[in-house]
Amino acid sequence: MKLFSNIAHLVTPTGNIKRGTEMGELLHLENVAMAVKEGLIYWIGQEKDWPEEAEIIDLQHKSIIPGLIDPHTHSVWAGDRFADFEARSSGINYEEILRRGGGIRSTMKHTQAASVDELVELALPRVWSLIRSGATTIEIKSGYGFTLEAELKMLEAIRILQTKVPAHLISTLLIHVPPKDLSERKSYVDDICSQLIPEVAKKKLAQAVDVFTEKEAFNLEETKNILTASRDNNLQLKLHADQFHPIGGTELAVEMGALSVDHLEASTSVQIQALAKSPTIATILPGVTLHLGLPAAPARELIKAGAAVAVGTDLNPGSSPVFSTQMALALAVRLNHLSPAEALSACTVNAAAALGLKDVGTLEVGKCANFCVLNDWREVAYSLGMNPIQKIFISGKEI
Ligand code: NIG
Ligand code: FE
Repeated sequence: MKLFSNIAHLVTPTGNIKRGTEMGELLHLENVAMAVKEGLIYWIGQEKDWPEEAEIIDLQHKSIIPGLIDPHTHSVWAGDRFADFEARSSGINYEEILRRGGGIRSTMKHTQAASVDELVELALPRVWSLIRSGATTIEIKSGYGFTLEAELKMLEAIRILQTKVPAHLISTLLIHVPPKDLSERKSYVDDICSQLIPEVAKKKLAQAVDVFTEKEAFNLEETKNILTASRDNNLQLKLHADQFHPIGGTELAVEMGALSVDHLEASTSVQIQALAKSPTIATILPGVTLHLGLPAAPARELIKAGAAVAVGTDLNPGSSPVFSTQMALALAVRLNHLSPAEALSACTVNAAAALGLKDVGTLEVGKCANFCVLNDWREVAYSLGMNPIQKIFISGKEI
């Protein structure tokens, strides 16, 4: 048993999901201690009331918040996108680069050519950067493999990464872009549905399947086929939707009971209402707004309508080279106009819900003892470029 003593402020959302205005309601406890047994929070109260022997860890009158949760990253890739970045700075937009065969497709070429070990080595410092910024649970997607073999290789790399870092990594199979040749699209989607998804489910290589539903990627019918095959194989559903055009992905994902719909920069009141009426989490990615200069996802409207909003980095080489989960939280305050309290809920309890997790995301008895130590909880939303996280504990162990 460990007793974390001398906690000036323990600040946390509570429960398993925060919808609408509840997102701004945080529990603040002053001058408390927290007992941890076998990695789980066992007790929270005044230190004088703690009855047992325990190993005391003095937190020196600092504050603690739940470990951050990054519900959307593409941390595994090879190659770089510096040329795209330069092209964009001269006025060519992201969709045009993708249409011309660059962008995601260029990262696919490099990722296909890399070995599993190379992918792991390339991803490790990125994942550590997210962890040092406070992330104790991180989702990582495949999606730069394209071929069935290369997608499996990416998931294999994520499986190895899980053994190399103390954070909890959750893997998602992402079906990212279709073949350029129109005549090959149908057989590609058929192979994904009849071979890749059953294989991934059988080997337990991912917990969810995600699809990029967009004019330059998969259409609604293809998306529905992929999501149906995923559901039939007991995999959970996620979607990249409404990034550039609201072509119906959000409505479909909500109807099919997806865990989350991510991006939403181009969502209108139709998609906002669909999300507000459903348990599906609306995950916003402010790094994309910053890096691509896109409109910000309508987070205030989503919250006003009663949706549950989560925030992720979307760490990837093309649309969001944001290597800090704390920075994504801080950007959501500036770009999507969340309050600091709403942003903390978005990066903890609601991000857990976006991954279907109930054991992390808040500091309450019975949950994992994953937490960050800092001077004042508001630093996590305020700081840009200086990491305010002083210490990180996962399952009660300092990392
Ligand atoms: O979430 N938009 C689709 N996929 C990724 C970007 C991937 C890339 O540009 O390499 C995203 O933004
Ligand atoms: Fe993404």
